[in-house]
Amino acid sequence: MQSKLIEAARNARKNAYAIYSDFHVGAAVGTSSGKIFQGCNVENASYSLTMCAERTALFSAIAAGEKEFTHLVVATENGVSPCGACRQVIWELCGDIPITLVDESGVCQETSASELLPRAFGQQDLGS
Ligand code: THU
Repeated sequence: MQSKLIEAARNARKNAYAIYSDFHVGAAVGTSSGKIFQGCNVENASYSLTMCAERTALFSAIAAGEKEFTHLVVATENGVSPCGACRQVIWELCGDIPITLVDESGVCQETSASELLPRAFGQQDLGS
């Protein structure tokens, strides 16, 4: 599954619509039902409307009815970590899943949602 996710994230990165930043990002999330959903960043001339690759992949999976996620892979030129907004969304929808960061040459770094967002704010903090 992990190698398929890496391939899917790297492939999705090729579809990035990143004409302003030229920073191309791909993501792929695996579900407990064995499916893979991919996403890329989609920019906009009104910059703040840009959608990150991670959220594109996750929202696409949610829209298809998926509820349980097992692993997320993010592909960039330089293997960097997801932005803060995506970390919060990953925590909300996936909990503490493993996350693989892959760079253009295929070098992988392993991390997790809790490592990227320690002391996260989440659903449990809303009740009293
Ligand atoms: N980007 C992502 O797709 N994911 C992230 O986690 C970080 C940033 C995109 C948004 C924008 O299109 C470009 O990378 C530069 O910020």
